[in-house]
Amino acid sequence: MNGGGDTFEAPVSSDQEQHEDPEKLAMFEARIARGEKIEPPDWMPTLYRQQLIRVIEQHAHSEIIGTLPEGAWITRAPGFRRKMGQMAKVQDEVGHAQLLYSAAETLGKTREEMMNDLISGKSKYSNVFNYPTPTWADSTVISWLIDAGAIVNQLANAKGSYGPYCRALERICVEESFHLKYGHDAVVHLATGSAKQREMIQAALNRWWSPIMMFFGPPDKTSVHTKALMKWKVKMATNDECRQQFLDMYVPKIGDLGLTVPDPNLRQNAAGTWEYTEPDWEEFKQVINGNGPCNAERLAVRRTAEEKGAWVREALLRPAAQYTTPLA
Ligand code: COA
Repeated sequence: MNGGGDTFEAPVSSDQEQHEDPEKLAMFEARIARGEKIEPPDWMPTLYRQQLIRVIEQHAHSEIIGTLPEGAWITRAPGFRRKMGQMAKVQDEVGHAQLLYSAAETLGKTREEMMNDLISGKSKYSNVFNYPTPTWADSTVISWLIDAGAIVNQLANAKGSYGPYCRALERICVEESFHLKYGHDAVVHLATGSAKQREMIQAALNRWWSPIMMFFGPPDKTSVHTKALMKWKVKMATNDECRQQFLDMYVPKIGDLGLTVPDPNLRQNAAGTWEYTEPDWEEFKQVINGNGPCNAERLAVRRTAEEKGAWVREALLRPAAQYTTPLA
């Protein structure tokens, strides 16, 4: 995620909760405890609404910005089949953004407001999409491991409390599972290929490991939103739980391909917990606050897309004024 400035500052939760109607709040929390879904017309605390908008909007922005590092490889993908796959994946990701923007709109923030907040740098999106994809192998690592990480997070949160977000996540997870297979197939191809291909995929994994570790968010002990989000079942697993689950599932698969995880301290202790070198959380803060290697470039592309698409939106808003009788 990019702009903002509030990162790692304490949320205003307790203050706001004090101003909620205690009876409505109790009924709301009882519904959540029973596992019921909250729907758009239902009463909800202001903080729940704000947190959902923040999470879903950032997620939507991540999907749309996430098309850029992979989209860069559509024209250069190795061969026709990979090109078709890459194009379909990028289209799917745009579709995910649409589903998520629609879910966020049900909470009262318009799409225009969200888009403006993205391109002005106010809103955030995932750290990982602010890194470049200098080789095809980088793109395959995104397709496999970032999508794998996303599935870990989203499968958990699809069981959460807000109906529109959960339904969007369920649909997204189905497609992400297919992306993961596509990515895995492409990585296997490189990892079992020539020495040069193996070198290329290992180098890409080395570049991406640290951003992937950061992808799940800061350690639980410094995560400012986890407590409120888990209490209201927006978030169903903590950042560290998701990171651990990812390591459980993917470290063995990386090893099976003869690749090395670039962390000499990575190991599973007797209790089954993965120990690892903490990624550079200072770099993470820089990247999510707009100072990563590609932040400026990513937002510039979105700004251009907004400007160039303005006439289409205007025409759709004023169909009568824009309609021109065809000449033939
Ligand atoms: N990239 C960018 N920013 C991140 C991040 C990441 N990988 N992980 C955390 N942050 C930001 C948070 O947005 C928050 O900043 P803010 O207060 O300015 O919004 C700050 O770091 C503190 O993190 P935390 O308190 O742990 O935030 P959180 O409880 O919302 O957890 C996520 C972060 C990403 C795990 C959570 O928001 C989430 O599950 N989002 C939905 C899934 C998603 O967006 N996936 C990425 C695209 S596939």
